[in-house]
Parts: sequence; C-alpha cells; structure tokens
Amino acid sequence: KKVVLAFSGGLDTSVILKWLQEVYQCEVVTFTADIGQGEEIEPARAKAKRLGVNEIFIEDLREEFVRDFVFPMFRANAIYEGEYLLGTSIARPLIAKRQIEIARETGADAVSHGATGKGNDQVRFELGYYALQPDIHVIAPWREWDLTSREKLLQYAEKHDIPVEMKQQSGSPYSMDANLLHISYEGRLLEDPAVEPEESMWRWTTSPEKALDEPEYLDLEFEHGDIVALNQERLSPAEVLTKLNRLGGEHGIGRLDLVENRYVGMKSRGCYETPGGTIMLRAHRAIESITLDREVAHLKDDLMPRYAALIYNGYWWSPERKMLQTLIDESQLSVNGWVRVKLYKGHVMVVGRDSKTDSLFDPNIATFEDDRGAYDHVDAAGFIRLNALRMRIAAKTRKR
Ligand code: ARG
Ligand code: SIN
Repeated sequence: KKVVLAFSGGLDTSVILKWLQEVYQCEVVTFTADIGQGEEIEPARAKAKRLGVNEIFIEDLREEFVRDFVFPMFRANAIYEGEYLLGTSIARPLIAKRQIEIARETGADAVSHGATGKGNDQVRFELGYYALQPDIHVIAPWREWDLTSREKLLQYAEKHDIPVEMKQQSGSPYSMDANLLHISYEGRLLEDPAVEPEESMWRWTTSPEKALDEPEYLDLEFEHGDIVALNQERLSPAEVLTKLNRLGGEHGIGRLDLVENRYVGMKSRGCYETPGGTIMLRAHRAIESITLDREVAHLKDDLMPRYAALIYNGYWWSPERKMLQTLIDESQLSVNGWVRVKLYKGHVMVVGRDSKTDSLFDPNIATFEDDRGAYDHVDAAGFIRLNALRMRIAAKTRKR
C-alpha cells in the first residue's frame, strides 16, 4: 500500500515513481540523499511534488556516510580484486538503512530502487533491506517492467508527462555513480575493454600528464585508524575526504580502468576516480606499518580480501561483516600518529611517519650500528638452524 523509493530526481527514478503509482496503485514516499555526488538534491523536492508525492525526504548524509561506512572500511584497507576501492559498494548499505527507517516512520510496507537486474547494486540494496526488515516487500521495477530500452523509457516519460529537462540526464554517454568516495563510469563506450577511455570522460581528476609540476606535501593525522586532521587542521570525516579529493584530483591521483567480476556472474568493465581514497589507503598502511604488531598486520592482510568481498557482494549488514569489523576496530586502538605524503603526477608517495604514543619502531634495535646488546647475533644462528631443520632432513632424504 505504501512504498519508499530511493529517488535521485533523474529520468530513471522519475519513471519508476510514475510506474509504481500506476502499476501498484500505491502511495510513493521519496527519499533523496546527499552522499557527496556533487548534484543539488533540493530540485528533487519539486520533481516529486509535481508527480504527486506527499511525503518527501531530502537529507544530507555526507558525514554519516564517511564516518560510519567509508572510515570503518578503510580501517581494513579493503580492496576488491586487487584494485577497486569499493566506492559504490559502500554507499548502498547506508541508502538501504535510511529507506527502511523511513518505511517505519511513514508506515510503508515496501521499498523500491532503480538498480537494474544485471548488476551488483540490486543485490546490495535488497540484502540490506531484508537484513534490517525481514518482512519488507521489495519492488525492483527494472526486473519487472517491459521498458527494456532507452527508447521505451523515453516514450513512457513522454506519455506520462514527465518533464523534459529530466530526459537530459547529465549529458554523459556513461552510466555513472558518484558519492564522496568516488565516481564510476560504466557502459556504452566502455563496453569494449580493449579500448582506452577518452580523456573527456574523467570528471574529478586531471590527467597525470597535465597535473601540476610542483609536488605537494601533506600531513595526515590518525586517531584509532581514522584521519582527524590535515596539515594540523582538525576536520570532520566528510571534510577530510572532500579536501583529499580536491588535492588528489589536482595531482591526477586515483584513476582506475578495470575489468571486474560482478557477484551476479558476469565480467564488467568500469572506470573509477577515487582521489581521496587512494591517498587515505596509502597513508593508512603507512601509519599501520609503525603501530601494528607484525602478526596483527599480517592477519589483517589475510582477512582483507574476505572483508572486501563481503562489501562488494552486499553483506555489510551480515553477522560475519560485523564480526570482522569488531576485530579490525580492535586492531586500530594503537593506530595513532601522523604520516607525510608527497603528491606528484598521479602518485602518492609516503615520505615520513611517526607516532609519539604507539610506535613499535625501535631505532636502537633496527640500527646497523652497535645496538648495545638488544639483539644477540648468536640467537640468530640458532633461529635459522632450527627453521632449516625440516629442509635439511628433506634434502638428506632425497639424497638417499
Ligand atoms: N561496478 C561497480 C560496483 O559494482 C560500480 C557500480 C556502479 N553502479 C551504478 N549504478 N552505476 O560497485
Ligand atoms: C546497475 O545495474 O544498476 C548498475 C551496475 C551494478 O549494479 O553493478
């Protein structure tokens, strides 16, 4: 009887809105969020009103997005298939959560989204819905309707008087998704993975070739694994990422052209710009390099691909993701200190790191000079001989 729609205000979700009213004969509640996609969200109010919506939710979720989703994920150093920083994947659980909360507030019994039936996003939204509200009804118009081409969609819009300016989405020939962590491009000209994307596709970064000729130094301060200050200025999580995106973008940092494996089974080619995230990951690994115990760091690295796959596949709200998060967060208690990076023509170089309170780096032990007895060379000989024992036995056996 009532459905909460994740509504961007663009053509697709406007058609979905109309279609829900028409086919399901139900009242539609719209939910539009600013998660840093860089588009005004207020215009969605007028568009929803014009389509007869009474309950319109328009919210700025940028701080919550970075604080409760992006930062926890970066504590894990999460990367999918060795490359992808999960910019779209990490936003879906937040959207799903707010939709379910709004459904409760407004007494709605259903939720709906604009993801297609071929992608990861449908899985991420819907796993989130069911995890948070087991008896919710899910309506996925792209899997149900017969508006299977751009042409049919436009005709439907025409027929139902969906205002013209919505048809001209962003004028881009790509399927894009943006938030504070990244912008992604898929489809159309990118569908041949052998062909280089045109330079004009990239929106957030200058090309490394054309980036500034002067390097830029940046100090990042960490508390419990999260960045809390840049160049000694304390900033909120969303402010940190906004600023890092701007600096990284100017220096051509964080472009990626990737063929990845979607959860639903197909390979897909996507391009991504993640300037701030690329800097954060580098810096985070650097502060961990002096503050984490070796075995803790290695265990985190072993678990990381599992954690990343959970995020990619849509299991943010699962018990196993929460369990891993507890373990990761525990490891971050000692991850305090600062890192200095140098940004230059597409590269992030770590050039310094220190922690007043938690550094495990002991110059007296690591030195090549006399360490005054902290490390006994005689111990090393026994250490090596015992570790070699099984290989010596094997070598002798082979000889026989
Ligand atoms: N392939 C990426 C992912 O699965 C990006 C998806 C982009 N989504 C979109 N609706 N355009 O996370
Ligand atoms: C979509 O199908 O809606 C976008 C691509 C994806 O979800 O992977």
